[in-house]
Amino acid sequence: MSSKQHETIYLEDYQPPAWLISHTELRFELEEEQTLVRAQLSVQANPLVSDKRRPLELFGDVDMELCRLSIDGEILEACDYQRKGDRLLIENVPESFTLECVTRLLPHENTALEGLYKSDGMFCTQCEAEGFRRITFFPDRPDVMSIFRTTLVADKALYPVLLSNGNPIESGEDGEGRHWVTWDDPWPKPSYLFALVAGDLAMLEDRYTTTSGREVALRIYAEPKDLDKLDYAMQSLKNAMRWDEDVYGREYDLDIYMIVAVDFFNMGAMENKGLNIFNTSCVLAHPKTTTDQGFQRVEGVVAHEYFHNWSGNRVTCRDWFQLSLKEGFTVFRDAEFSADMNSRTVKRIEDVSLLRTAQFAEDAGPMAHPVRPESYMEISNFYTLTVYEKGAEVVRMLHTLLGADLFRKGSDLYFERHDGQAVTTDDFVAAMEAVSGRDLGQFKRWYSQAGTPRLEVSDSYNPETCEYTLTVRQSCPPSPGQDHKQPYLIPLNIGLLAEDGQELYSGMLELTKEIQQFRFDNIASRPVPSLLRGFSAPVKLEYDYSDEQLLMLLSNDPDGFNRWDAGQRLCIRLLQQQMQRYRDGVPMTCPETLVTAWRQLLLDESLDPAMVTQCLRLPSEAQLAELAGVIDVAAIHDAREFMRKALAEALEQEWLMAYQRCDTGEAYSPDAESTGRRSLKNLALAYLMATGREPWLELTRQQYEQSDNMTDQLAALSLVAHSEFRETAEELLQEFYQQWQHESLVMNQWLAVQASDPTEGALERVKELAQHPIFDARNPNKLRSLIGSFCAQNLSSFHAEDGSGYIWLADWILKLDKQNPQVAARLLTPLTRWKRYTAERGSLMRAQLQRIIDTNELSADVYEVVSKSLI
Ligand code: ARG
Ligand code: ZN
Repeated sequence: MSSKQHETIYLEDYQPPAWLISHTELRFELEEEQTLVRAQLSVQANPLVSDKRRPLELFGDVDMELCRLSIDGEILEACDYQRKGDRLLIENVPESFTLECVTRLLPHENTALEGLYKSDGMFCTQCEAEGFRRITFFPDRPDVMSIFRTTLVADKALYPVLLSNGNPIESGEDGEGRHWVTWDDPWPKPSYLFALVAGDLAMLEDRYTTTSGREVALRIYAEPKDLDKLDYAMQSLKNAMRWDEDVYGREYDLDIYMIVAVDFFNMGAMENKGLNIFNTSCVLAHPKTTTDQGFQRVEGVVAHEYFHNWSGNRVTCRDWFQLSLKEGFTVFRDAEFSADMNSRTVKRIEDVSLLRTAQFAEDAGPMAHPVRPESYMEISNFYTLTVYEKGAEVVRMLHTLLGADLFRKGSDLYFERHDGQAVTTDDFVAAMEAVSGRDLGQFKRWYSQAGTPRLEVSDSYNPETCEYTLTVRQSCPPSPGQDHKQPYLIPLNIGLLAEDGQELYSGMLELTKEIQQFRFDNIASRPVPSLLRGFSAPVKLEYDYSDEQLLMLLSNDPDGFNRWDAGQRLCIRLLQQQMQRYRDGVPMTCPETLVTAWRQLLLDESLDPAMVTQCLRLPSEAQLAELAGVIDVAAIHDAREFMRKALAEALEQEWLMAYQRCDTGEAYSPDAESTGRRSLKNLALAYLMATGREPWLELTRQQYEQSDNMTDQLAALSLVAHSEFRETAEELLQEFYQQWQHESLVMNQWLAVQASDPTEGALERVKELAQHPIFDARNPNKLRSLIGSFCAQNLSSFHAEDGSGYIWLADWILKLDKQNPQVAARLLTPLTRWKRYTAERGSLMRAQLQRIIDTNELSADVYEVVSKSLI
């Protein structure tokens, strides 16, 4: 039996730390077989905690080897302290003392990628949330902040570059081929923001001058072969620094800002003070190897991590229940940045689509939790769409309720009040209350209640009095541990349009009660309401629109987001009708009204191609699944495929015209306009391919061969790879592999394209790919590309009737749990939703969860997810 306990931690048990660490000195002896870490902590009793007899509590991984522990130079014997699980307790310590601790680590054997590990040939760290306890014994909690000084010693030839947080203050050589560098970070920080890197790295350098005149050296490090892929990240970083000064008045506060790209990384990136560590997928970008989507991700993530320097580092979280304090706010900040850099409406559509598919599904699943969770077993499981994306929506609602000016005043006050502190989401809201004079008590239910609220809207019109009335009823379904929800404060942005599209009213309604009525006077004729404009709240809104009303909104709503949304509502309704026909065994149909509306959109050259693309893309299978009462995978797949083919055939000429219009032959640039043109071009090509006609295969092949950028090449590849033209598919996949086998990130795409191919034989193909030399089961990006894509993007194959997809995933989870529990727990998500599926599939899924939990020695990560989904 593993000695690891799967205990539950509760927010209500929070206690301030009894001991503080003013200074931390670390010395790392990095060697091939082991790393010795010597830590010296200056410990003081916390003057704000009265109970002075509380023992010093340090955290350290159960498997970490402790070589020496001393207090003020006196060695502690095993009987002088207790080790309980990942805790080390020392009783009867003086008021203030120096604790020295030596630990021995085996970074090359660290496959969990938490703490100190090796990525390819380099040493790097990941300490958030609780990785620092795999490096040394420490009060590894975010409310203990310390000034760090770090010395790295390593072989000079193998690891010429030695980095840590802050500024380098001393360096030297020891004669035996080893060298050392000491880094000093003047800003007190929690241990989760500690980082080090040692390796043979190339670097791109630039400079930035802040408004107040601080000169900052900007350095992005990567493996030498990737040096040509760093320019876009550098430009994004400079844009983000300028934007944070302009929009939030926030400047950078050190002389150096570093980013390091590593290929082995559990998440996207990490905001360590002055030394961000990035998954290569979120920092490397080059037109030949990176898609438009990839460029956007780099821009967004570089900005996100930079913005954390204030919303996360200067002001951090008191405990991990407050994670959304930094993540929700920072996602909101990066989304606004991306909106300013590109197209605001398109960015909003993309974010809302993600929220509606993945976050709503999370809210309706067994792991549903509030933006500020109340308990957890393993905090890594709470880096979720709810904490990040819904958390960002909550901050956005504050922005909407207060308006931009007051919101900025509130953010200024928050940073001023709490600079250098570890605080709570309540503190954030309190700053917004102080500047606005509003009581936001009810608003805070957005932090404490889980689940997606539902708004049922109905209306009435009196032609005699010209009065129009909207009635809104809000409710929220139960979620684990929360049977009854209190009403939320909801900002509802709306407009009222006359039949001819003219806007009669626009404004914000504030919902506070379960049922509310709003009356509008002087409305000359019955209006069409445009509701929840810009998606002003993360809710599901129901209103009984007619098809004609939706078509009117699709072409006339002044709110671009709602124009798109009207089109989506119409498509969803029509798709749901086809799903019903499929189940009833009646032939499916594609209504002429939809074809006509789409034809108009396709032919109108005055429209923004990016917006047209969004409007003409059918809702994904995952979104249709989220909306279904009971998920019938086959009905969803077949109805959507039917519609795609029908729209492809009915508008074949128009798709070709759009393709030709957008195929301008211009040189590649990742800007919003060119990206928009490419998106429409490739959507048009996808519809042409959906007709299944040979000439379009030729066109696609031609694009594959002639394109000078990965966006067009990959789009063409995946269309052929997912088509019935199996011979050409094999051929192109092979060609692509030959061309790009040395580019790890491109190979991830190659795996993902094949894993998401819904045609016959998908599981056999992914099983074979798992044996391919390019696949590396220790690399999270490879796992996500192959296993993640198959289980989350290829619904009809993963949910094969015989349950073979479920068995395959469970096999992987059991294998990965020993190696990398964080990634294992994440890949498990699709199985946890078993209750949503038809009975036969649901029980096959459940059986695999049962098989997993019947296994001994599961990690806390996987145990928590599986046990909660079996309730
Ligand atoms: N703070 C990082 C970010 O959002 C994420 C780090 C998450 N790491 C983890 N092991 N859960 O930028
Ligand atoms: Zn973040």
